[in-house]
Amino acid sequence: MTALAAKRRRILLTGGTSGIGLELARRWADRHDIVITGRSLSGDLAALMRNRPGVTHVVADQAKPEKAAAQIMAALAGRGWESLDHAVLNAATGYAADPASEETARLLETLDTNLTATMLFAHHLFPLLEAGRGSLTLIGSTAHRGAPAFASYAATKAGINGFARSLREEWRGRIIVQVLHPGPTRTTMHKKAGLDTGRAGAFFTPPAAMAAMIDHAIARRVGGRKLSFLRYWSGESLLARGL
Ligand SMILES: NC(=O)c1ccc[n+]([C@@H]2O[C@H](COP(=O)([O-])OP(=O)(O)OC[C@H]3O[C@@H](n4cnc5c(N)ncnc54)[C@H](OP(=O)(O)O)[C@@H]3O)[C@@H](O)[C@H]2O)c1
Repeated sequence: MTALAAKRRRILLTGGTSGIGLELARRWADRHDIVITGRSLSGDLAALMRNRPGVTHVVADQAKPEKAAAQIMAALAGRGWESLDHAVLNAATGYAADPASEETARLLETLDTNLTATMLFAHHLFPLLEAGRGSLTLIGSTAHRGAPAFASYAATKAGINGFARSLREEWRGRIIVQVLHPGPTRTTMHKKAGLDTGRAGAFFTPPAAMAAMIDHAIARRVGGRKLSFLRYWSGESLLARGL
């Protein structure tokens, strides 16, 4: 283990109750202190938190971005954290829909959860990240280039990509900003979105492997990266060293 890997970090992870976020939490729970957000505490996360006082969960519904930001900042202050080593803004939602007839409520929920909340959190977290000389990781998607049936979701991910690239310039020398774009990953996100992936789902990257690639990209401080099935099969998730 390197000296870098040995350091105990303070990490904020949004959307750590399931899927890729939960796998990131599993990777870090024994070595780092983590504040994890989601709308409710899942059984899987509760099991992970058992006997790990360094891992805590905060209820924060990003569909109400200002309230969620206040809840998260209060939780960090409650732990006495005045600095952060890493913020990983991973929580997101999406619904399969015809953009010509998508329900307004779902459109707004997707925009607020994925984009508005992410931008607002970055704003609030700036002083803590600067104090910790930390890194901000935004989880995008390969869908940022456009995705049939997921126009609103794709738009939020394109927004995240542009936001991260702007912040990287604005905060250069003070905070590392990275945007990582996972490809299709075998989580329950598609089912929740109302999409049947059919046989193709069997070829999606396992969430633990995606988390390994994200962890590696954070540790390596890469600015932007597509995290694809090909990268997975190249062995990166197996060989990767993380935080
Ligand atoms: N799966 C894929 O194929 C894929 C591909 C590209 C990118 N991604 C990205 O990877 C990230 C993780 O996705 P995943 O596949 O792991 O999905 P997931 O299993 O559905 O997890 C989503 C996480 O986001 C949280 N979340 C959803 N809505 C929320 C809200 N309104 N407020 C607060 N938290 C909320 C969920 O927590 P609660 O339910 O407890 O609120 C959950 O922890 C997302 O940014 C997604 O866009 C996924």
